[in-house]
Amino acid sequence: MDLQGRTVLLTGATGGIGAALVATLVARGAHVLAVARHAERLTTLARSHPAGAVTPFAADLTDAVDRAALLTHARTLLPAPSVLVLAHARPSFGLFAAQTDAEFEALVRTNLVAPMQLIRCLLPMLQAQSQAAVVAVGSTFGSLAFPGFSAYSASKFGLRGLIEGLGREHAGGAVRFQYLAPRATRTPFNTPAVDALNQALGTHVDAPEPVAEALVRAIERGTRRRQLGWPEALFARLNGLLPALIDRSLAKQLPLIRHHAGGTPSNASQEPRHDLLPL
Ligand SMILES: NC(=O)c1ccc[n+]([C@@H]2O[C@H](COP(=O)([O-])OP(=O)(O)OC[C@H]3O[C@@H](n4cnc5c(N)ncnc54)[C@H](OP(=O)(O)O)[C@@H]3O)[C@@H](O)[C@H]2O)c1
Repeated sequence: MDLQGRTVLLTGATGGIGAALVATLVARGAHVLAVARHAERLTTLARSHPAGAVTPFAADLTDAVDRAALLTHARTLLPAPSVLVLAHARPSFGLFAAQTDAEFEALVRTNLVAPMQLIRCLLPMLQAQSQAAVVAVGSTFGSLAFPGFSAYSASKFGLRGLIEGLGREHAGGAVRFQYLAPRATRTPFNTPAVDALNQALGTHVDAPEPVAEALVRAIERGTRRRQLGWPEALFARLNGLLPALIDRSLAKQLPLIRHHAGGTPSNASQEPRHDLLPL
């Protein structure tokens, strides 16, 4: 897909990965309809690009009125959006038992229900194009559920299932569905506790710019599913084939993960654990 001259509707546009995606898409000649909740951050983002390249649109995607307003605005654009990139999400790190019902509801509404609702309302517009794409930014934890991220993993597994099902439901149609999963990336998405866990586990953390470049290349190539990073791509596959192997490896890391997720004392070494699964 040649992105030159296309309109891309990008959610999470002010985020760490989102802002890098905006820059990469604009460099490819696309016009970006940039969506997030905070209007002032969107305005700052739009002003950092050539005039007219980025249109800011403030919307809370969990709100039906905001989604309807976004659809109405998208319909006024020329050319109409032919690519939807879902790069918004709510983070969640902590021991499951310590989390609240309200947190679970907000997490699943943001990471899974809002994408379903947004895709359904934009689908007729996308189907009217000769070539269109719905791209969900997933996570390693959408293929390999991680302790301390159980609810978040569930939301990303759901997103992966949604995109896979839609891809099969629309096989041969004008709209393709892509699930593209970054590994850990240096953005405000990760709290200091997550950063400390990543450091303790020796997890590789990518800068957002190469992640955005890899995502845009996958959009151009039409890659259906992609896990970024090595060995994360191997571990995600292994989890599907031999989950007991991953169970055993993660069990060794559990004291360290519990320590960072719940603040419990840990006797585990704080040195990077490159011998274990670095995710
Ligand atoms: N960072 C990582 O380590 C990592 C790793 C793997 C996958 N990912 C995935 O990559 C994507 C981007 O992550 P990121 O690191 O760029 O996150 P981020 O820096 O926290 O940005 C999140 C973005 O989503 C927007 N947003 C959140 N809730 C929203 C809502 N209800 N309605 C509209 N916009 C909303 C935020 O803007 P407002 O607050 O203004 O709404 C912001 O623009 C997410 O899908 C995440 O799951 C991240």
